[in-house]
Amino acid sequence: MNERAHRSALALAAAVSGAVGLLGLLGLFVVGAAPGTAAWAGAVAAIAGRWLLLVGLCLMVGAAFVGTVILPAPPPSFRRLVAIACVAAGIGLALVLVALVGASLNVPLWRVAVLRAMPLVVAGVLIAFEWRASQPSVRGIAAIGIAAAAAMLADVGTSHIASSAEAHPEHVETFVHWLHVLAVGTWVGGLAALLVSLPALAGDAVRSAVRRFSTSAGIGIGLVAVTGLMRAAQELGPLSNLLTTDFGRLLVAKSVLLVALAGLGAGQRLVGVPAAPRRLRPLRRIGTAELAIAAVVILLAAALVNVPPPA
Ligand code: HEM
Repeated sequence: MNERAHRSALALAAAVSGAVGLLGLLGLFVVGAAPGTAAWAGAVAAIAGRWLLLVGLCLMVGAAFVGTVILPAPPPSFRRLVAIACVAAGIGLALVLVALVGASLNVPLWRVAVLRAMPLVVAGVLIAFEWRASQPSVRGIAAIGIAAAAAMLADVGTSHIASSAEAHPEHVETFVHWLHVLAVGTWVGGLAALLVSLPALAGDAVRSAVRRFSTSAGIGIGLVAVTGLMRAAQELGPLSNLLTTDFGRLLVAKSVLLVALAGLGAGQRLVGVPAAPRRLRPLRRIGTAELAIAAVVILLAAALVNVPPPA
């Protein structure tokens, strides 16, 4: 194995063990003070399932955004990307539903399962059609993105918002939460799709794609921050809860990593984007670092939804 492959293998092993360690730790957050192994394992499965579901949905929304707004047409590589994303979201949803067995829900579990599985099944059928076509189409990839956005809405509809519906109307919260996750999809999922599409682009096509995406990413991160803070204000209660509750501490961790992502985004704008028409390495390197941090933030978000909000 050459030196470079060896270094990448080590980096991957470190990343995976770090993620598994964090997952185990977050499981303790969810089960609180009296963890039994079964409860902890259930919490870890619920968080891992949510992470897979969110990552899958964000990748499908991101590929649709880049394939319809940023690029003139979706490249063939997007078919594999959305197929992998849909399978990941399906496995994630199965784990989330298993973790809901026995939980006290406002609606029967079978209805939650049907509501949440339907948009994913539609996305799966649309992806099968795209595979049969000679070239992926703008309309096809847009329809896949809409189905994934519908799956996000179904997911949001069964998060903390649904369980506190009696207390206050939830339409505003549902819309803000959905917008938060959609913005993560177009920004972070879009970044992954852009990096996947680069080998199919050259010269001016690279220049215009990375510039257009960089502008949209700036809007995306702003929207994520604003909607995140709005959701935090709806669920956190008094500010003292920020450092004295698990929910608050997870929010602080997410906000710190958002600042790190904004810093990398600025680096991308100053270095990666201008260099891209000549050299893609800086854009790829900074982009990979952004995706790694975003994957951790989505893991924190997946735990956040399994921790009772203090308010
Ligand atoms: C200022 C920074 C941020 C704040 C204050 C914030 C706050 C929140 C809040 C309060 C929720 C709802 C939790 C619930 O219903 O229990 C949430 C959900 C979520 N956040 Fe953020 N967020 C921030 C940044 C981010 C970033 C940078 C990402 C991704 C890169 C992200 C990804 C998500 C996702 C995917 C969810 C949905 C979780 C789910 O429904 O399972 N957030 N966020």
